[in-house]
Amino acid sequence: MLEADFLLTNAGRLATVAAHPAPPLEGPLGVLRDGALAARNGRIVWVGAQAEVAQAVTLIPRARRLDAAGALVLPGFVDSHTHLVFAGHRAGEFHERLRGATYAELLAQGRGILATVGATRAASAADLEASARQRMARCLAHGTTTLEAKSGYGLSLADEIKCLHVVAALRDGPPRLVSTCMAAHTVPPEYRADRAAYVRLVCDQILPAARPLADFCDVFCETGAFDVAESRTILERARDLGYKLKLHANQLGHSGGAALAAELNAISADHLDFTTDADLAALRDASVVATLLPGCSYTLRHAYPDGRQWLDAGLKLSLATDLNPGSSYTENMQFVIGLAISFCGITVAEALRAATLGGAQALQFDTEIGSLEVGKRCDLTVWDTTDEEEIGYHVGVNLVKRVVVDGAIAI
Ligand code: NIG
Ligand code: FE
Repeated sequence: MLEADFLLTNAGRLATVAAHPAPPLEGPLGVLRDGALAARNGRIVWVGAQAEVAQAVTLIPRARRLDAAGALVLPGFVDSHTHLVFAGHRAGEFHERLRGATYAELLAQGRGILATVGATRAASAADLEASARQRMARCLAHGTTTLEAKSGYGLSLADEIKCLHVVAALRDGPPRLVSTCMAAHTVPPEYRADRAAYVRLVCDQILPAARPLADFCDVFCETGAFDVAESRTILERARDLGYKLKLHANQLGHSGGAALAAELNAISADHLDFTTDADLAALRDASVVATLLPGCSYTLRHAYPDGRQWLDAGLKLSLATDLNPGSSYTENMQFVIGLAISFCGITVAEALRAATLGGAQALQFDTEIGSLEVGKRCDLTVWDTTDEEEIGYHVGVNLVKRVVVDGAIAI
C-alpha cells in the first residue's frame, strides 16, 4: 500500500500527457478513463484506475481529497513566456493600432516597450509586486500552475534588479515562477546614441548582478531592439555566467534570431513568425523548443505563425500567452489554445500538449512538471467539462474549476 496525503478521485478523463502513452492510456494525450491519482509531499506517487485506488493507496491523517465527479483532469498549464512584472497598461496604443498605427512605428517613436519602461521605473517594488500578484491569481484561476516571468521593463541595473526581486518575492506562488533576465528587451532612451555602451552595461553589470535571481537570459533580436551581433554578444556572456538561453526571434521580420537560437543551442526560440525551412531545420537539429505566441498575432493583427509547419518539421512546440501590456495582454492559456487551433493549424490535443509538457520543455523543467506521471510534481486542473474537445471551442469563459499545485488545493 502506498501512503498519500493527496487523492484525486473520479476523473472521467484523466489526460496524463505522458511522453510516450501506452495502453491503457488512450490517444495522443494519454487519457486514462475513470482514473484516480495520489500524491505525497507534492509529488505524484500513483496514477491508475478509480476501481483500483482503494487497494493501492492508503491516506495519512488529514490528507486532502478532491472528487472530480466525472470531469476532465489535465496537468496544470505551463506558461513558458510572460512579461509578468510591469506597471500601467497601453490600451491607448491598442486602439491607435486599430486605427492604423503599427507596433514597430510606436517603438521607433519611443513609445511601445519604452512607455512601459517609464511607468515601471517610476513604480515602487511594492506596487509592482501587488500588480504581478493579481496577474498571477488570474493565471492560476485559468489553469496555469507554473509560469515563466521576465524582467525587461527596467533596462537599468537598479530597475532590472528591482523587477527580478519582485519575481523572487513571488517565486513560490502559486503558481510557481521561473525567472528570466531580459535586460536586453530594447535599448533604453539614455543609451540610444551609444548602443554599444548599453550592451556593455548588460554584459558587465546587469547579467552578473542578476544571476542569483534568474535562471534564463532572453534577448529581443529584432529591428528596433538588438541585431544578431549584439544578441550573440549578450547571450554568449549569459551562457558563460551559467544562464540558460531564450530568444525573442523573427517576430516582426527575418531578424536572424532563429538561426542564432540554433547556433547557441538555446532552450527555446519564441515567436518565429518569419522563418525559412532552413531556420526550422536548424532549430530542430539543435533541439530548440519553438514557442507559439498567437496572442501577439491577435493583439497586433498580424498573420498567425504556422504551428502545423513547425510540428511537421519535427520541432517540439510550446504554447504560451506572452502576457505583456503591449503585444498580448492576457493571462488566459485557454484563450491562446483557442487561437492556436483556429489559426495556427494544430489540433486541440497538440495545443494542450504544447501548453503543458511543451511549456515544461521550453523551461527545461520537464523532468518535474508538464505531465501527470509518477515522480512528477502534482500540478493539475479539474475542468467544468468532461471532454478536452470543449477547450478552445467553448470560448470567452473560464472552464477551469479546481487547481492543484504541489498536491495542495489552490482553487
Ligand atoms: O514578446 N517582442 C518583444 N517583447 C514583447 C512585447 C513587449 C511589449 O510590447 O511591451 C513580446 O511581444
Ligand atoms: Fe515576449
